[in-house]
Amino acid sequence: MSEGRPGGSTRRVFIRTYGCQMNVYDSDRMAELLAPLGYGPASAPEEADLVVLNTCHIRERASEKVYSELGRLRDLKTERRSAGRDLTIAVAGCVAQAEGEEIARRQPAVDIVVGPQAYHRLPELLAQAERRIAERREGGRRRAGAGVLDTAFPPESKFDHLPPAGTVRGGSAFLSIQEGCDKFCTFCVVPYTRGAEYSRPAAAVLAEARRLAAEGAVEIVLLGQNVNAYHGEATDGSIWSLARLLRALAEIPGVGRLRYTTSHPRDMDDALIAAHRELDVLMPYLHLPVQSGSDRVLAAMNRGHGRDRYLELVAALREARPDMALSSDFIVGFPGETDADFDDTMRLVQEVGFASAFTFKYSARPGTPGAALDNQVPEAVRSARLAALQALIQRQQGDFNRATAGRTVPVLFAEPGRKPGQVSGKTPWLQSVHLDGPSTLIGGIAEVELLEGFDNSLSGRLAVAAARTAA
Ligand code: SAH
Ligand code: SF4
Ligand code: F3S
Repeated sequence: MSEGRPGGSTRRVFIRTYGCQMNVYDSDRMAELLAPLGYGPASAPEEADLVVLNTCHIRERASEKVYSELGRLRDLKTERRSAGRDLTIAVAGCVAQAEGEEIARRQPAVDIVVGPQAYHRLPELLAQAERRIAERREGGRRRAGAGVLDTAFPPESKFDHLPPAGTVRGGSAFLSIQEGCDKFCTFCVVPYTRGAEYSRPAAAVLAEARRLAAEGAVEIVLLGQNVNAYHGEATDGSIWSLARLLRALAEIPGVGRLRYTTSHPRDMDDALIAAHRELDVLMPYLHLPVQSGSDRVLAAMNRGHGRDRYLELVAALREARPDMALSSDFIVGFPGETDADFDDTMRLVQEVGFASAFTFKYSARPGTPGAALDNQVPEAVRSARLAALQALIQRQQGDFNRATAGRTVPVLFAEPGRKPGQVSGKTPWLQSVHLDGPSTLIGGIAEVELLEGFDNSLSGRLAVAAARTAA
């Protein structure tokens, strides 16, 4: 990340990120956008002149967190003002998009509300907010609520207005290639918060990837709400699929690992499966959410595929890349889900054998078709199903970790370990490994002998002394 204008930062911004990796990417881009305005990073709201909450609307609990955090920030703002200073509060992300007006009404201390496709306008919105703050100081009349609201889906792409990306963490960088969703699963808010599906032009993606590689990214993780629906225009006017894009990215010097997330089973085509066979740098790990193992529930969710199709895809992926590990998302207690439907989910998990997975209790979201269904599953049933599924997945994850012990594999070292003198990193299958080693390993890949597998991680030791280290 750049350190602001020459001569150092004059102000500080604290960005709190909720939700998915798309939000992590957006938060980094916001920081990069604010740096030339003189905003350096703050490590806590107390040290900041500007706080941005980059929010998530996916489940009820995620959205409610935002309002409690805003209550705390309001108190901080009041304290500041009594000391003759101020705090600018901005709400970005998916709650901003879905509930912009409500945020302004419920929390008048908020100065800026900006949606996930409009945050390139943040500098302009900040200038307006600062004018309002100055007016207020001078005793001018204060309008109620958030002064500045921008949750439009602008006709232009935010990407054309952002500075070049350059955030690399522990040798890994996110790169958003696709935004939005047109699939309208009946439980999901994303099509309403992120807007229609959009793919960035291939040349822009390649340029960003080259830049990230030059900044030290050994691994690039391509992001999109439906990343495998990617269909970006190339300079010759042709349309590139994700498979085509991956082949081009694999040629970039220095890029040793490629991943992509999140994929939809409906967009998993033969070319993409073949890319897993052909490209060594494409990691043998795929997050492929299935949500449910019941055909009836999958249909009610509008997922556009059944259980057999998912199992077919898993088999094809494993045929292409025998060491392929799978991960998934599951929702339990979708309206109308019976015990038999839930058993179908448990059976599917047993059949596939996941390396890890996220499990969620269905949360009725306002405005989605699922919320209007009258056969909602009681909370106690949802909780019991979640516990049973989590226990099964946890067992599979532990088994997978234990089965990898004994092998020697490349590990990308991402950060210092929990104990002094330790470093931790990721295997090709995204398992966490902790071992004794110098911090100079961070940001690079080295061969590691995996010693012991646990439920959530593995221990290991360096296999080669001449490990590649970060620049
Ligand atoms: N685009 C991705 C999912 C993005 S949301 C896909 O189609 O797979 C991430 C996960 O949150 C989803 O996969 C789903 O499991 C979960 N989720 C979304 N809406 C939810 C809701 N209303 N209640 C519970 N979980 C939900
Ligand atoms: Fe949501 Fe479905 Fe779109 Fe995924 S594919 S973002 S779950 S609507
Ligand atoms: Fe949440 Fe928006 Fe991501 S709702 S999961 S932050 S796309």
